[in-house]
Amino acid sequence: MKAHIILAHPDSKSFNANLTNVASNILRNKGWEITKSDLYSIGFDPCERAEHYGFSESDYRFDVQSVQRDASKNNSIPLFVKEEIERLDNADLVIFQYPMWWHLPSAILKGWFDRVFAYGEVYASQKRFENGRFIGKKALVSVTVGTSEEAYHHNGRSGDIDLMLWLFIFLLLMWGLVSCPRMLPMALKQGFAIQMKKS
Ligand SMILES: Cc1cc2nc3c(=O)[nH]c(=O)nc-3n(C[C@H](O)[C@H](O)[C@H](O)COP(=O)(O)O)c2cc1C
Repeated sequence: MKAHIILAHPDSKSFNANLTNVASNILRNKGWEITKSDLYSIGFDPCERAEHYGFSESDYRFDVQSVQRDASKNNSIPLFVKEEIERLDNADLVIFQYPMWWHLPSAILKGWFDRVFAYGEVYASQKRFENGRFIGKKALVSVTVGTSEEAYHHNGRSGDIDLMLWLFIFLLLMWGLVSCPRMLPMALKQGFAIQMKKS
């Protein structure tokens, strides 16, 4: 089995980075093959722009969906995007590891969707949900938060975390990825702290 991990955190010593290391080690020990895109460390540009397609924005109107569709037809999608889609195609499980920043994924991960889920290549109007490119694959959305479990309940002080995560999970469903049931990140952090103390 193969897993692809997408890490969207700037610090290699963070809780998030450590969670990807723990996941990689556990899965490798079980015989899985792991690929990883550590978006900050590879200098991923989360902003979709004309330059990625070899022209400047002033040359033409930069209509993103048309440009992505043409690049898909001409086999000229940007190299990282092409390779990342291949890694997704090859994976049985895709792990998204990110911190909750202002109720949303860190911006670099939003940009990953803007660029990697390219129109024509990954999706089109008839290429969604049950016809999604990644149908049959599982996703694990591993989000860390800074707020307590009590605050993240329905009508809690910080709002309903399931509602906040819904947009992300719906986005995955559109491309055929089915997400695993969520685990409480606070519980995970406590477990991780205990594990670190022991080791
Ligand atoms: C810009 C920014 C915005 C944040 N917004 C939230 C938030 O909306 N909700 C929340 O629970 N925590 C928020 N936090 C706290 C982080 O989610 C928390 O520190 C992080 O998940 C811990 O993981 P780390 O040690 O790997 O950074 C925010 C942190 C930053 C830096």
